[in-house]
Amino acid sequence: MGEHKRIGILTSGGDCSGLNAVIRAVVHCAVNTYGWEVLGIRQATLGLMARPPQATKLEIEQVDSLLTAGGTMLGTTNKGDPFAFPMPDGSLCDRSEEIIAGYHELNLDALIGIGGDGSLAILRRLAQQGGINLVGIPKTIDNDIGVTEHAIGFDTAVNIATEALDRLHFTAASHSRVMILEVMGRDAGHIAIAAGIAGGADVILIPEIPYTIDHICYKIKERQETGKNYCLIIVSEAVRTHDGEIVTMTNRLGQSRYGGIGEYLADQIIQRVGVETRVTVLGHIQRGGTASPLDRLVATAFGVAAVNLIAEGKYDRMVTWQNRQVLSVPITEAIAQYSAVDPNGTLVKTARGMGIYLGD
Ligand code: F6P
Repeated sequence: MGEHKRIGILTSGGDCSGLNAVIRAVVHCAVNTYGWEVLGIRQATLGLMARPPQATKLEIEQVDSLLTAGGTMLGTTNKGDPFAFPMPDGSLCDRSEEIIAGYHELNLDALIGIGGDGSLAILRRLAQQGGINLVGIPKTIDNDIGVTEHAIGFDTAVNIATEALDRLHFTAASHSRVMILEVMGRDAGHIAIAAGIAGGADVILIPEIPYTIDHICYKIKERQETGKNYCLIIVSEAVRTHDGEIVTMTNRLGQSRYGGIGEYLADQIIQRVGVETRVTVLGHIQRGGTASPLDRLVATAFGVAAVNLIAEGKYDRMVTWQNRQVLSVPITEAIAQYSAVDPNGTLVKTARGMGIYLGD
């Protein structure tokens, strides 16, 4: 069984479906296969910054029912870079040493960090600075980490966006409307193109490919001429206006995030072709609820592989899914390879081959 270990696990960045399935797999493999102890750290690095550090021992019974549970039982945060942590007086403070001290205070032999590229970059910096034995697991509905074909959460988000298109299809046809579905994905159009093809969209707009309003309107008219009185459009949140402006929503506190490109397109379509147009913003529904079977499978395989890396003493690595296998790469390689939709790739060719308007 080898030497006894105490390992920590945390989820960092935005949540997504499948996180609990990874935690379950890590606990099963660490406890049953190796006889180790697993500590679940609360609220990402905030749990290590707190005094005493916020962590609890995870037993098989606690995690066994988690396979289908959405969210993360450990909590998470996508705010508060520990190297420039926002303090109550408005200043920014480097609190990295407190997190490193928290790791050592818990007497951890290794840490499994589940996160997107931003979280993994921060965790790696902490690991290098403080002698933390880190293994990374990729998760993000945006699927923009280049070295892995799957990141946990993406498949579920695509399923949810596809189901939304399926539902919009009927109401669009009933009312002879243009229906626009705005989806997440940050700067990558992976969710939009995958769900758009799977859900039979007529127009797919992604940040990687420029478009014109004229061509969208042409597509709507072309469909009308062939007796199709409705049109389904899916658009990624980071698509810009036709003259290149980023569309964001700002709350009353002055905080901005992507949002509003669907409404912008609707106004343009109504003005130019006069067809009734409605917008659905899918938002955080894409991150919630039960994970798809594929996400559960990937999460389970990644959890087991991460524990096995620790058993082999291989740190500073992230597990990946490549050519039907789970492998691992240095975390630096993972965070250096951003993956946007390839404008010459299979999905773009597929969409174009189906006559979907995808930009010019
Ligand atoms: O990175 C995941 C993601 O869901 C993006 O697709 C989206 O732009 C962002 O997070 C939303 O973040 P928040 O949960 O802070 O609104």
